[in-house]
Amino acid sequence: MIQKVRKAVFPVGGLGTRFLPATKAMPKEMLPVVDRPLIQYAVDEARAAGIEEFIFVTGRGKVIIEDHFDRSYELERVLSERGKTDVLNELEQNLPNTGSVAYIRQREPQGLGHAVWCAKRYVGEEPFAVILADDLILSEKACLAQMMETRDEMGGGNVLAAMEVPHEHTSRYGIISPGQDDGKKVEVTHLVEKPDPSVAPSNLAVIGRYILEPEIFDILEGQARGAGNEIQLTDAMSNMLGSSRFYGLRFEGTRFDCGDKIGFLHANVAFALNRQDIAQDFGNIIRSVAADL
Ligand code: G1P
Repeated sequence: MIQKVRKAVFPVGGLGTRFLPATKAMPKEMLPVVDRPLIQYAVDEARAAGIEEFIFVTGRGKVIIEDHFDRSYELERVLSERGKTDVLNELEQNLPNTGSVAYIRQREPQGLGHAVWCAKRYVGEEPFAVILADDLILSEKACLAQMMETRDEMGGGNVLAAMEVPHEHTSRYGIISPGQDDGKKVEVTHLVEKPDPSVAPSNLAVIGRYILEPEIFDILEGQARGAGNEIQLTDAMSNMLGSSRFYGLRFEGTRFDCGDKIGFLHANVAFALNRQDIAQDFGNIIRSVAADL
């Protein structure tokens, strides 16, 4: 039997410079799409995929994330006095279980690979997931749950969320060299971080969801700096390819790049139109705005 994936790592140390001034004093992971912060969607997705332990790799200025996943007695008392039990229940449901959340500080931003390495002691010798909250995915079945199914089907191994992107955008992503491909699952033969379109091996990009075997930590330990002079997770995964299988999964769902203003605005529109409580009113507004364009 393959080992269950019980833990997820959330690298949340990034500065969010593309959203200044909004992110000057507030973590970018707390930016709301409709009324939920990005990091809440990431945690919800992990829970929907059966994750039991949540490891946040944070940095300075990110303590609000810890407060978000904690009780707020004052707020709860006021809500309770006002009889707002539905809101209270929702707040309760958003919380991971006591004792299931850990926070680690990454002292200097040294890249995604370094952020993941920081979680080594908490993950230990078991497979784990990584979720980048910037990549928000609207889907019927949680993207990470789809990836877990792929891992089960393949009898284990590493699984990456994958998606075709416009060829001219390869320099924004980790790019997969595809091997055997059934249209949904694709064998990864090589990986390269942010290649120029002129040298990119394909336009199949890695999106911010990973299921990884713990061997990645040993490789990250000695990983040289790569693109942007940072320790890249993509480089470490590429170095692991000789000893461990990697698959890309073209997941079902729509991905929004919430690290980018346009992607973030698009996500807000799409998620609002997907919400029963506001879809109709908001749809009317969108139609009237569009008519005036
Ligand atoms: C990171 C990864 C990259 C991946 C991307 C997905 O890049 O390094 O391989 O394709 O996330 O969003 P970043 O967006 O942090 O520069």
